[in-house]
Amino acid sequence: MRVTASSPSPAIAVVSLLGLAASVLAHPQATRTSEAEEAAISNPTTECQSYDYPPVTQAMSSFPKIWEYAATILPGDAAGHAKYASFNTSIPKIAPKGILTDSTKGTNYPATDPDCWWTYSNCLTPKLSGLVPDVADVPEPRTLGYGFDDGPYCGHNVWYDYLSSQNQKATMFYIGSNVMDYPLEAQRAITDGHEICAHTWSHNYMTATSNEGAFAELWYSIQAIKLVTGVTPTCWRPPYGDVDDRIRYIAGQLGLQTTVWKYDTEDGTEGSDGVTAADVTKNYDDFITKASQGAFNTVGAILLTHELTNFTMQTAMDYHPKLMQVFDHIVPIAVAQNKTTPYLETNYTMPTFAEYIAGTTQTNGTTAVSSAPAQSNSGSPTSSGSDPATSSGSPSPGSSGEQNQHVNGAGHVKGSVSGPLSAVGAAVLALLWL
Ligand SMILES: *[C@@H]1O[C@H](CO)[C@@H](O)[C@H](O)[C@H]1NC(C)=O
Ligand SMILES: *[C@@H]1O[C@H](CO)[C@@H](O)[C@H](O)[C@H]1NC(C)=O
Ligand SMILES: *[C@@H]1O[C@H](CO)[C@@H](O)[C@H](O)[C@H]1NC(C)=O
Ligand SMILES: *[C@@H]1O[C@H](CO)[C@@H](O)[C@H](O)[C@H]1NC(C)=O
Ligand SMILES: *[C@@H]1O[C@H](CO)[C@@H](O)[C@H](O)[C@H]1NC(C)=O
Ligand SMILES: [Zn+2]
Repeated sequence: MRVTASSPSPAIAVVSLLGLAASVLAHPQATRTSEAEEAAISNPTTECQSYDYPPVTQAMSSFPKIWEYAATILPGDAAGHAKYASFNTSIPKIAPKGILTDSTKGTNYPATDPDCWWTYSNCLTPKLSGLVPDVADVPEPRTLGYGFDDGPYCGHNVWYDYLSSQNQKATMFYIGSNVMDYPLEAQRAITDGHEICAHTWSHNYMTATSNEGAFAELWYSIQAIKLVTGVTPTCWRPPYGDVDDRIRYIAGQLGLQTTVWKYDTEDGTEGSDGVTAADVTKNYDDFITKASQGAFNTVGAILLTHELTNFTMQTAMDYHPKLMQVFDHIVPIAVAQNKTTPYLETNYTMPTFAEYIAGTTQTNGTTAVSSAPAQSNSGSPTSSGSDPATSSGSPSPGSSGEQNQHVNGAGHVKGSVSGPLSAVGAAVLALLWL
């Protein structure tokens, strides 16, 4: 081999290769520093390797522990305390229900449904005056308000690539803890022109939380989305649909519209609670049959689906063409509402419904957070990656039961891995995790 003057000598090349190998072995996290770099990863296993994103790492102390119930406002969070103090004395005096993993547990609730508890009765119109009814469908006829819960999923590029290839935008209900774990994935939603709504910090049953806990779950989820994407949502979806007038009031004080659904694919429950893949495809098929029979000819629909596992995303991909056949339009929920400034930051715009269906599916959706430079190898993964508790509670009365299993990022190697299992072992473990 002819070594030109500008090439490194073979010896230097070998040494630097060794150095690279050593640094990779000592630090198994993938390196990626920008949304574009993340979006270019096509292999979900690679995409799910953890990485360090300095803006999140540096802000961790201003947030609750990832995947832990945000029970309180952090002591140093002056803005959080001030916001909460501005309305906490007027929160409706409704007692928390059940336990965090099942608000129906041990709850002896009056049949008159005094709290407009969705989990009990699918109630959408608050009993208390001054509260806005929940959104459960979209006003435009023959239109599907297309939404996905529980993201960002660490390995979502195949799914988001598909959406891009179809010029299809959707509403993503992101969990704060996932946004902190997978910030570059979250940024892709904005870059691609999707709408982001909040789906709490740790995905517990919200009617079981304390007043301050309910506030903190919502507050830190929208702070996480703001930190990572530059925008502050004005919509949220309660995990499991679990909302009552107390929670509606607190969400309303944070400027959050409550969005639920009327149709459920049960895709997030597939593989547990007796729900099979065949049940999920039957739910999709039944929904499509209803649409083809004219059920949404005067008011459009919202269907519960998830960005949670390969199964939920692949099934969404498989069914997108079939949904296109029975709906005239499939649009983000904000678009179906002509909500052109869906965030507190009013310089970010989404198209009107008319613009969207005429082909302008995206207005200005650039990532507002500039990409941080790569951190040298000293960074720790952005979180401990602990698994959230998932509910195994009995199905709630009247509930569509959004019983999700949160699959944790494969790259989030547990801190307890040590000794011979460190470095290489952990990297192998991480690969096997999927
Ligand atoms: C309201 O919140 C403030 C600030 O967190 C706190 O000092 C006060 O005790 C709260 N009041 C009630 C009634 O919860
Ligand atoms: C789901 O997994 C299969 C098999 O690995 C893969 O071919 C497919 O692209 C994945 N789908 C999505 C949406 O990630
Ligand atoms: C959205 O705006 C269009 C006009 O551009 C109007 O026809 C439609 O009724 C509006 N929809 C809603 C839900 O406001
Ligand atoms: C965003 O788009 C709107 C409407 O197209 C435009 O008026 C506005 O100037 C754009 N803002 C930025 C910052 O690009
Ligand atoms: C909106 O304004 C904020 C604050 O001025 C700025 O940081 C951000 O980049 C802007 N976003 C867009 C999409 O123009
Ligand atoms: Zn969920």
